[in-house]
Amino acid sequence: MRILLGVSAGIAAYKSALLLRLLTEAGHDVRVVPTRASLEFVGRATWEALSGNPVTTGVFDDVPAVEHVRLGTSADLVVVAPATADLLARAAAGRADDLLTAALLTARCPVLMAPAMHTGMWEHPATRANVATLRGRGVVVLDPDSGRLTGQDTGPGRLPEPAVIAAAALALVASPLPADLAGRHVVVSAGGTREPVDPVRFLGNRSTGTQGIALAKAATERGARVTLVAANVSLPTPHGVEVVAVETTSELREAVRSAGATADVVVMAAAVADFRPLTTAEHKMKKVAGEPAPSIALTTNPDILAELAAERLHPGQVVVGFAAETGDGEGSVLDHGRAKARRKGADLLVVNAVGQGRGFGGVDNDVTIVDEHGQDVAVAAGSKDVVAHAVWDAIVPLLKPLDA
Ligand code: C5P
Repeated sequence: MRILLGVSAGIAAYKSALLLRLLTEAGHDVRVVPTRASLEFVGRATWEALSGNPVTTGVFDDVPAVEHVRLGTSADLVVVAPATADLLARAAAGRADDLLTAALLTARCPVLMAPAMHTGMWEHPATRANVATLRGRGVVVLDPDSGRLTGQDTGPGRLPEPAVIAAAALALVASPLPADLAGRHVVVSAGGTREPVDPVRFLGNRSTGTQGIALAKAATERGARVTLVAANVSLPTPHGVEVVAVETTSELREAVRSAGATADVVVMAAAVADFRPLTTAEHKMKKVAGEPAPSIALTTNPDILAELAAERLHPGQVVVGFAAETGDGEGSVLDHGRAKARRKGADLLVVNAVGQGRGFGGVDNDVTIVDEHGQDVAVAAGSKDVVAHAVWDAIVPLLKPLDA
């Protein structure tokens, strides 16, 4: 595969030498296109020696070969690492003032950018807007790692490890998955909410967040920008996913509604507590010998899914819920699921059976996806990754066209 490796002028450029090594060792033909200023950090000789290819930086360097067009159009994958604030700004603006930005304009293949810069620059509204623009066009912009920066300070801004960048970049082309969520923002809630009883106790549930994390991962693989609202999730979260950690239903509601304002899809995979203690004791409730145990009065939580379905925070937003059901004397798992779908009004409800070791944690899932009328749309069985992709397969046809 032909890979174009863009290098812009950040101190982290030295790590891209290792990235280049990983890509060539994986058998790829890599053309390095550094910006002129980046050669202050790592020189042309290093790139030429490691890639085995000539290195040019300007649009006038090899005019007869029309390099600025050929490099972009002939690439199967473009990786820019490090992507500085300046490079992100020039790419977002569609500038073509050096060979790298010109090649970015002619490339029609997947493009991945790995930003690295000072935290202040990463968090600046100008950079946020540029990243949003690029992601909106389908460019995969990784979130930088957090940690020690060039000076004494620490924070988000470090270049992700070369192996992580290489894996994320190669996944874009190796994957047979459709990029049918490119340019979309999706919000997924995962885990289980906890409602405090007193400062040390809570009412919770067994949800680990595995299915929600699988949904978030599947959506990034299909090109979406993903916000994962994670309620008490201790599992690792997928790279490139924005994670908002929450504890209670009220925090989860706030986070989902805030991220949902720009989302094309909201998937409520979290197990949200239906009830919470009416009051939270200020001090730990004490056991008093000889006295009866205290009772905990409960109140009902708002149904976030039903609210989202009724309100649609963003035009054309698709709202999807999960229903973990058990069959009983009144009906089967699916009977309850269909009735719930009609009650909640979400576009899709993913119904699965729980209890007796089924449904929770890393075990396989067996689901039926129904629409808002309770009609079957699809069935899926297998790992939570398989189920996650089946859920996105069912969501994609419901999305409004990107330019509408
Ligand atoms: O009614 P039930 O809890 O079974 O519904 C499950 C679905 O509704 C899940 O998608 C869950 O995230 C969502 N839910 C919610 N707010 C609640 C309870 C559940 O959004 N208070």
